[in-house]
Amino acid sequence: MKYKAVIFDLDGVICSTDRYHYLAWKKIAEEIGVYFDESVNNRLRGVSRAESLDIILEAYNGKVSDEKKRDYMSKKNALYRHLLEGMSLNDLDPEVKTTLDQIRAKGIKMAIGSSSKNTKYILKQIGLDDYFDAVSDGNNIMRSKPDPEVFLKASNFLGISPGNCLVVEDAKSGIEAAIAAKMDCAAIGNGTKYHLANYDLENFSGLLDIL
Ligand code: BG6
Ligand code: MG
Repeated sequence: MKYKAVIFDLDGVICSTDRYHYLAWKKIAEEIGVYFDESVNNRLRGVSRAESLDIILEAYNGKVSDEKKRDYMSKKNALYRHLLEGMSLNDLDPEVKTTLDQIRAKGIKMAIGSSSKNTKYILKQIGLDDYFDAVSDGNNIMRSKPDPEVFLKASNFLGISPGNCLVVEDAKSGIEAAIAAKMDCAAIGNGTKYHLANYDLENFSGLLDIL
């Protein structure tokens, strides 16, 4: 069996928190007075909070101080956390949970590889806080995707070499990070439109055909 571990991105793969990132950034973009739509939002997938703000500010004519940037980031995170507070076990799609359980039954290790500093809180909200064999997230990395660091740390935490890991991603930056980590990648959702991954999944349970 080639894959001894699967490393899942969180936002937009395990749960639909990518939607909440969009809603929170949209409010901030409105406050700044810059254009923001789904295509700008797709560029924010997988990248850190600070880099996301820099991408949004590309449309802004003028200079923004570091203090103001910190202010926008903390406002965005407060809006986002407020949306996360409303999450519950109902936000874990039964197809996702059943598929994860079936992967576990095959003896394959599972980890999270996410740029988010809110990872642990989200996992708790959807009842997966003790589920994964390892969690590599925005709190243990210096560089976010497309840098491979988050996935390499996850494979290290698991004790499984990169060549035996499969990454599941919805972000272009995340697919690029998997390639840079020399890991195979299955794209899902938004990620399938780039045709950069080894597999393009129609749905989450499609993973079972690969593993
Ligand atoms: C990633 C999201 O999972 O986490 C990005 O795809 C987000 O959109 C990044 O910017 C950082 O998230 P957080 O929760 O630390 O602001
Ligand atoms: Mg994602």
